[in-house]
Amino acid sequence: VEVTFVSHRGESRTVNGNEGESVMQVALNNGVPGILADCGGGLACATCHVHIAPDWMDRVGTPDSEEEMMLEMAVDPDENSRLSCQIKLSADIDGLVVNLPASQL
Ligand code: FES
Repeated sequence: VEVTFVSHRGESRTVNGNEGESVMQVALNNGVPGILADCGGGLACATCHVHIAPDWMDRVGTPDSEEEMMLEMAVDPDENSRLSCQIKLSADIDGLVVNLPASQL
């Protein structure tokens, strides 16, 4: 499953992960800068915040209420914000594009 991470400077990096892994794990496994994931995927830090490319929002879906609460701790969340540890890779989202927030470097 392919995921492209676009930094706030516009540099993009496409990496591959296995189904069932989270978008956050794939970023860490491949050393993609900008995903800090301080809490290791426990929905407790909001440093894995990403902005989903608008075209992909339908397929990725909106956050559940717990994730939404944690997103309030993220810097400048918008309607395309998700926590990347809560997005699991699947064939449905192969090719996903996410934008990394400027605050996470
Ligand atoms: Fe901490 Fe996602 S890694 S909320």
